[in-house]
Amino acid sequence: MRALAASLLLISPVLAVADQDPLEARGRWSIPERKQARTPPMGWNSWNAFRTEVDEAKVMGAAQTIVDSGLAKLGYVYVNIDDGWWLKRRTRDGRLQIRTALFPSARIQGKDSSFRPFTDRLHAMGLKAGLYTDVGRNACSQAYDLHSPNLPEGSTAEREVGLHGHVEQDIALYFREWGFDYIKVDACGLNVYGAASPVVDVRKQGYRPFEPLIDQTSIARTDIPAVRGLYEGVAAALHETNADGDYILAICNWGTADVRSWGKQVGHLWRTSGDITPRWTRMLHNFDSASTRALYAKPGAWNDPDMLFVGHGDFDENHLTEARSHFSLWAIINAPLIIGYDLRNAPKSLLDIWGNADVVRINQDPLGHQAVIAYASDDVQILVKTLSNGRKAVAVFNRGLAKQEVNLTAAHLKFSADKPIELRDLWTKMTLPAFTKETTLELEPRETLLFEASGTRRLPDGAYLSETPADINVAVDGVLNPEPDPVVHRMAGPWSGTRDSGERPAYTGWGGAQADATPYDQALQVAGRRFDTGLGILSGSRLEVRNGGRKRFEASVGVDDSTRNVADKVEFLVYGDGKLLQRSGAVAFGDAARPIEANVDGVKLLELVVRQTTGGSPVPVVVTWGEAALR
Ligand code: GLA
Repeated sequence: MRALAASLLLISPVLAVADQDPLEARGRWSIPERKQARTPPMGWNSWNAFRTEVDEAKVMGAAQTIVDSGLAKLGYVYVNIDDGWWLKRRTRDGRLQIRTALFPSARIQGKDSSFRPFTDRLHAMGLKAGLYTDVGRNACSQAYDLHSPNLPEGSTAEREVGLHGHVEQDIALYFREWGFDYIKVDACGLNVYGAASPVVDVRKQGYRPFEPLIDQTSIARTDIPAVRGLYEGVAAALHETNADGDYILAICNWGTADVRSWGKQVGHLWRTSGDITPRWTRMLHNFDSASTRALYAKPGAWNDPDMLFVGHGDFDENHLTEARSHFSLWAIINAPLIIGYDLRNAPKSLLDIWGNADVVRINQDPLGHQAVIAYASDDVQILVKTLSNGRKAVAVFNRGLAKQEVNLTAAHLKFSADKPIELRDLWTKMTLPAFTKETTLELEPRETLLFEASGTRRLPDGAYLSETPADINVAVDGVLNPEPDPVVHRMAGPWSGTRDSGERPAYTGWGGAQADATPYDQALQVAGRRFDTGLGILSGSRLEVRNGGRKRFEASVGVDDSTRNVADKVEFLVYGDGKLLQRSGAVAFGDAARPIEANVDGVKLLELVVRQTTGGSPVPVVVTWGEAALR
């Protein structure tokens, strides 16, 4: 009943505004303000090192190394237990029981168990504690790790260790009673426990069938509102249990159910893809699932391409180039930096990677701007991130096995081409000779060069909006039917080899708003005029933009040359604190980019709206806010 009341509370404001035009200016930032995860969470998690063979000695060993090595001081504070910790759900009262054989300190009061002694120890070390659960009735290991000695035990009901039907009770237990600070909420309970599950024989294993809400291969067969609603229920319970806001909700539904568009509303981070493995091409896959989504991340809300695999397989101590690449890339796209290695035995070469204070600083920059892709190809990418110190971080990434010669230009950095630019290598700590216009860099196979760049900003009195993605909320992106994003590297069979028909595009988000590219990953261009900066979006969209005290908004707007819908007209509207400031008038495909300017002196929040003014085609129009800037 309490759970129902809480979810109604959360849902009713949404119902109340259901009739409101989604493009109508609201005059407010619509992502909930969150106290935690103002920068991407950092820490350690047991899964990539131990899978379900997690135990207290391993976790405390990691915690001790994190403190002793100085990693804690750099910000690695969350110590998270993943799948494998539970014994059963007690039928008498529904209380979760810990597998105390693995966590001896949890054994208290005869037959009961509590993680409080464990979290007390972590807190006394200056660390924070995280736990794992599932939003369904059963967890992932109960389907995928049937050989594990640490699966929940007992009757069907006792093995229902997930949150479903117990949200309030479990969240109160984990946070209020046990003192956890962070929860990772998986979603296997929603997708692999159907009566006809291809993953696990639910009858044979004695699980209660759960009609899948998620189909990982089909967005059409996924119940997006139901999945979102279940996570909203968890968010509501967390909010109720932790009135001080001191908690983190990590949504782990692997990029399904269109979470890339709503994750920011519900949790502090959300997985954008399936699980990472210690393979180079899988790392590319996970990276690509988050790297094009800069406009969807910001303080309190982060894209999560999964935990680090530094130290294993293609990223082990014999592959430090790859390990540094993986870490640099996660750092620059503001991914959570969660170590997945047995830290009791970590060689210095790996500790030096996680412990590179300059790289961590890039990731933890307080403004929270995710890097934007300045140059895209399957071989080489250049990503640029605006820093709070006025400089830019830039990653030059060689994705392949050939050496590469890369021209890094002032335009990539949005620096003036005729003023000197300096690059400091954040791995070698060397500063390269200053250059103007462009420089040429040599990259080894799979190498990522990570620099902090100083130069003169092309817009010294302000910023292009694509330089400040954290200040933009994509409130409505204009996507009518979510479509899988094809611009994600497709590696060969991470789980089933090449037995099936291959790795197909799976994560929706195609058509979502982009910085410096169209929603379909084209360069921005209006009536033949190329824009190297701007926002690309669809008609039927509304962006909320925080104005940090700037006086003027300006842009050159139009229908992008890449649009499929060339028939319909659109109008661009600029609002300040809910009031209309400027409108473009109707714009058609082929019209020259039209300047639009507004005085925003004193305005706190801008809203950039694009409405379709004719309705002939069911396909939205691709539109460009060229050189959109606040100054
Ligand atoms: C899923 C998650 C992983 C891990 C396992 C545990 O696969 O995506 O990160 O938590 O479950 O079983």
